[in-house]
Amino acid sequence: MGAEVNSAVSGVCDAERTHRIEKPANFDRLAALYRWMEWCSFGPFLSWCRCAFLSHLRDRRRGLVLGDGDGRFTARLLRENPHIRIDAVDASAAMLRRLARRGSRQGAGRVRTFRADARTWQPASDGYDLIATHFFLDCLTTEEVRALALKLRAAAAPGAVWVVSEFAEPANGLGRLFARPVVASLYWAFACMTGLRVRRLPQHGAALREAGFALARRKTWLGGMLASERWTPSSSTGS
Ligand SMILES: C[S@@+](CC[C@H](N)C(=O)[O-])C[C@H]1O[C@@H](n2cnc3c(N)ncnc32)[C@H](O)[C@@H]1O
Repeated sequence: MGAEVNSAVSGVCDAERTHRIEKPANFDRLAALYRWMEWCSFGPFLSWCRCAFLSHLRDRRRGLVLGDGDGRFTARLLRENPHIRIDAVDASAAMLRRLARRGSRQGAGRVRTFRADARTWQPASDGYDLIATHFFLDCLTTEEVRALALKLRAAAAPGAVWVVSEFAEPANGLGRLFARPVVASLYWAFACMTGLRVRRLPQHGAALREAGFALARRKTWLGGMLASERWTPSSSTGS
């Protein structure tokens, strides 16, 4: 029901040649299994993370969702917010098909999908009042997150909100002792299954700050190993 698929594959290839960007990880093979893998490993925690700020997003009108995979967050957002229109970008065609199907059930014609590498994709609007990245920035290096955040800062409307869910390094020693092998084995598993080349969590907080965003709120789970964050453009932190 009307989700437009805009394949940007040739553009991605050109950009890769020009800037020597590695091919993005290929999540196609995992698309069907992804939600079950998540539930078997983390139960409801990742879903709680993604939806932590959902109730604050009911007034948003123009959303950009990057790397939402099979689209469960996009579908929840469309259900909670009957007015929002969403651009969804993902490199995986199989993930995007699922996202488009879920999206169309909740909000026919309110989702446009772009199959593209988010690192080279050019935003389709400069008026996004919501950006969402859940467990996506950890597919990028810190430098790539910084470049992406600069691009998104220019595409963000005044008063925009960026919600981020990520694995994190817990502040206390015991938490780190637990989290480090978990995160390392996740990277190892995704390297085997998708070809992901990134091996460590990016410093996404520093990257977002440098690009002109400020942290407005943070919630954590599992002793600090999972974090949900709400960022805003620096000039509108107080809003
Ligand atoms: C770890 S999954 C996370 C999926 C979902 N956001 C979640 O919360 O579980 C990462 C997603 O980002 C996509 N992805 C990874 N690198 C990408 C890139 N460079 N450009 C666009 N999408 C990318 C993958 O195809 C996949 O759907």
